[in-house]
Amino acid sequence: MDSRISARALAAALGGWRSREPVYEALADGVRLLCLDNRLAPRTTLPAERELAAALAVSRSTVAAAYRSLRETGHIASLRGSGSVTLALVRRDPGRATAAEGMIDLQQASPPAWPGLAGVIAEVAASAPSLVSRVGYDVLGRIELREAIADRYTRRGILTQPGEVLVTTGAQSAIHLIASVLLGRGDRVLVETPTYPHAVDALRRVGARPIGVPVTTDSGWDLDRAEQAFARALPVAAYLMPDFHNPTGRTMSDAEREAILRAGERAGSVLVLDETTADLDIDRGAVAPGFAGSEPGTVVRIGSLGKTVWGGLRVGWVRAEGDLIRRLVAARPAQDLGTPEIEQAVATRVLEDFDEVVAQRSVLLRSGRDALVEALADRLPRWRVPSTHGGVSLWIELDAALSSALVMDVRSHGVLLSAGPRFSIEGGHDRHLRMPFTASPDELVRATHALARSWEAVTAAAPTSIVDQVGAVV
Ligand SMILES: Cc1ncc(COP(=O)(O)O)c(C=O)c1O
Repeated sequence: MDSRISARALAAALGGWRSREPVYEALADGVRLLCLDNRLAPRTTLPAERELAAALAVSRSTVAAAYRSLRETGHIASLRGSGSVTLALVRRDPGRATAAEGMIDLQQASPPAWPGLAGVIAEVAASAPSLVSRVGYDVLGRIELREAIADRYTRRGILTQPGEVLVTTGAQSAIHLIASVLLGRGDRVLVETPTYPHAVDALRRVGARPIGVPVTTDSGWDLDRAEQAFARALPVAAYLMPDFHNPTGRTMSDAEREAILRAGERAGSVLVLDETTADLDIDRGAVAPGFAGSEPGTVVRIGSLGKTVWGGLRVGWVRAEGDLIRRLVAARPAQDLGTPEIEQAVATRVLEDFDEVVAQRSVLLRSGRDALVEALADRLPRWRVPSTHGGVSLWIELDAALSSALVMDVRSHGVLLSAGPRFSIEGGHDRHLRMPFTASPDELVRATHALARSWEAVTAAAPTSIVDQVGAVV
């Protein structure tokens, strides 16, 4: 099914697009970035020129020139009677922008595989004859793995039976499955902003309407806004990342947890806690058990080995009360028929030494974070870099709202990044950039050098109204 985007939604997604002269090229670049990020899917019909011009407060000829430029670069086609439609770019990877040889890809925060993984896979391969003598997949998950996951929760103080665990194909499929069971068209769902964008994609797919609650690197969760949003919108669910929130790296304080739990309970909302990044502690040594004493039924947890062990394993899970697990199991076959047993066998074995795995991960993330913080302080001292004690990324505040223009420019220097607005619910965050520190220190330093060169060019080309806002760059 082809889709269309309204002028209002496109204007919101474009955010602070006026990054350079001529204005029509800045607008065309904004649309190109949305295509590269897959925020504008192929075959999306763009608004008519007149409507977009009104929404952006520019002349119709500016939009016409931008569309012409997009046609020339093969990003859109204008079809008589159907308006302008985005195209599937031949060079565009269907999943995300392709990292060509020698490019540094920081679009996803994917750490390399845990070094012991290849050995565990070889060990499990030795039992391949018995593994392949079975069906090889099932909708609930292997009992040995569900026991190991339940045991970890119980040791965290969250008493869990294997029947309260469902193994999924990574955390992403868990989010989608939960969304499709708990939420229907028009249901409100509370989410943090900024947030993990593919979760919002999954929530929107089922027709839910996200309501954003701000999280900042300085002040954490905006509790007033959260309490108001729970009380006024009565969201069916809230999707939250209490430990090492992606992308800010913030962890909820006990007071924040308590306030959100109580507000959620009063509103009758299910709290869906995505703990994919919860084990990624760098400095504190141990992670606080999030919402440990909460009521059964109001809290659903999502976990994954994607960041601790390897994203390629595609093993995640849901922890919820038995009744919800049964509803998820009933709904799952429409989406997938289970997680491969070979991967589950590897995951079961890895969980035996999981404390050691997590400790090694922390060393790797520390070296990346420290190298990145140092390089940024050296090359881009005007950027505000938060102190981040865990997770996968730094949520950096730039000294001008030019994140999208920067991301476009730095591509030509071989660095792929996602701009701040990608993590926003309805546009905004143009002053922010997410930099994952999951790559090697050497790559992160090279990426920072490229960013410094691009920032000079982008700020020099920007209208003074943007760079003067902070009086920092002129
Ligand atoms: C917060 C969060 N949730 C879920 C996912 C998806 O995890 P998985 O690879 O297990 O599907 C990610 C991956 O980036 C993530 O950052």
